[in-house]
Amino acid sequence: MTALAIFALVLAVVFFGLWRAADAKVMATKSRVPGSPIPLKSIQDVDPLFALTRFGPSRETEVAHIAAVHVEGGISDLESWFLCNLAKTSKRVFEFGTATGKTTYLMARSAPDVRISTVTLHPDEIGSDQHAAGDDKALQVAARRESAFAEFLYSGTDVEPRIEQLFGDSKRFDETPYLAAFDLIFVDGAHTDSYVRSDTEKALAMLAPGGWLVWHDYVGRKVPGVFKPLNELSTKLPLFRIKGTTFVVYRKPAA
Ligand SMILES: C[S@@+](CC[C@H](N)C(=O)[O-])C[C@H]1O[C@@H](n2cnc3c(N)ncnc32)[C@H](O)[C@@H]1O
Repeated sequence: MTALAIFALVLAVVFFGLWRAADAKVMATKSRVPGSPIPLKSIQDVDPLFALTRFGPSRETEVAHIAAVHVEGGISDLESWFLCNLAKTSKRVFEFGTATGKTTYLMARSAPDVRISTVTLHPDEIGSDQHAAGDDKALQVAARRESAFAEFLYSGTDVEPRIEQLFGDSKRFDETPYLAAFDLIFVDGAHTDSYVRSDTEKALAMLAPGGWLVWHDYVGRKVPGVFKPLNELSTKLPLFRIKGTTFVVYRKPAA
């Protein structure tokens, strides 16, 4: 081997090592939530579907993908992959907080038979929301800023007929026609304390036996509206977090 080839090989090994180390750091940073009582799981331990093969995740976990670049209120690529896979095992999905509709679209695209209901605040309804007196002010502002969409990434596509778009304040949303109807519920609406508690209560009522309930943005005290209610809920239900994501998950026991 020439000196040049050896040099190139060493360089490649060093770059690969640095890239893996950076990746591991990102995963560890995302998962570090000081003061969290909620246990952490590796994604491959959540369900046999995510078990690793010698090549990494299996072909069965293939989903539709659009990169998480500059997406208002969006979730990460890993989070999207996880949710789209759960959608593939679901008949009906409910989402609190549509925003751009990217996650809605990717779930519908990944799961050709799934039906999705998603509720969001229409831009014309900003101001009709009902944050409580003690709710974090910055989180109220973020909830209103993200309520900028009345058309979505899925609008006009062939998945649209499988999506039920609901507009309105989620505290006023009547969950009673949907009791135990959904196999997957994603709570990602307003992130203030009073909304997370209200959306969670409705989600628990709408969750089917064996269904998955997933919350976004559990990052610690920076987002107190998610942190505090979920820490409290974890004393009553076996919640867990997923490494490398800001997800908290609950799986309802099968009937
Ligand atoms: C973080 S974004 C949702 C992101 C989306 N789930 C995704 O994965 O791309 C928050 C969403 O909650 C909605 N929202 C904020 N306040 C709300 C309220 N009071 N009732 C219903 N939806 C609300 C916003 O309009 C926005 O669509």
